[in-house]
Amino acid sequence: MNVLVLNGPNLGRLGVRQPDVYGTSSYAELEALCVRGGAELGLSVQVRQSEHEGELLQWLHAAADEATPVVLNAGALTHTSVALGDACAMLTAPLIEVHISNVHRRELFRHHSYVSAHATGVIVGLGIEGYVLALSWIASHAGPASS
Ligand code: DQA
Repeated sequence: MNVLVLNGPNLGRLGVRQPDVYGTSSYAELEALCVRGGAELGLSVQVRQSEHEGELLQWLHAAADEATPVVLNAGALTHTSVALGDACAMLTAPLIEVHISNVHRRELFRHHSYVSAHATGVIVGLGIEGYVLALSWIASHAGPASS
């Protein structure tokens, strides 16, 4: 099964960006973790990151067209983008929202998500391991093998 792992603005800076909040693993390490972890679960995982809202929307549209499960960490767009929420609403396969940090222990503006209302589930505060947990859930609950 194909799975998309989509990352929004600033997540390409993992490892150098506020390591006290987001940890010391780099984006390349996150990518490798998702691809390797996904393969062990029988998933073909593509990991992408963009600084641009429109590019994320286009990837979500393609995921909607192809009924591809998505793991989404939209970064700050999570808290600001109605368009992102609208794109998530079109998805038919599972959508798991992931945040590396526990957004609920942080500033109030991070407590609201335009994604959550459309997500199958949400994983926050477990670091980059949250992505692997999301993939593990998808491997056991999505696709023909699980029905
Ligand atoms: C984040 C949390 C967001 O509030 C923040 O803007 C990010 C990263 C996280 O993974 O913890 O860019 O999504």
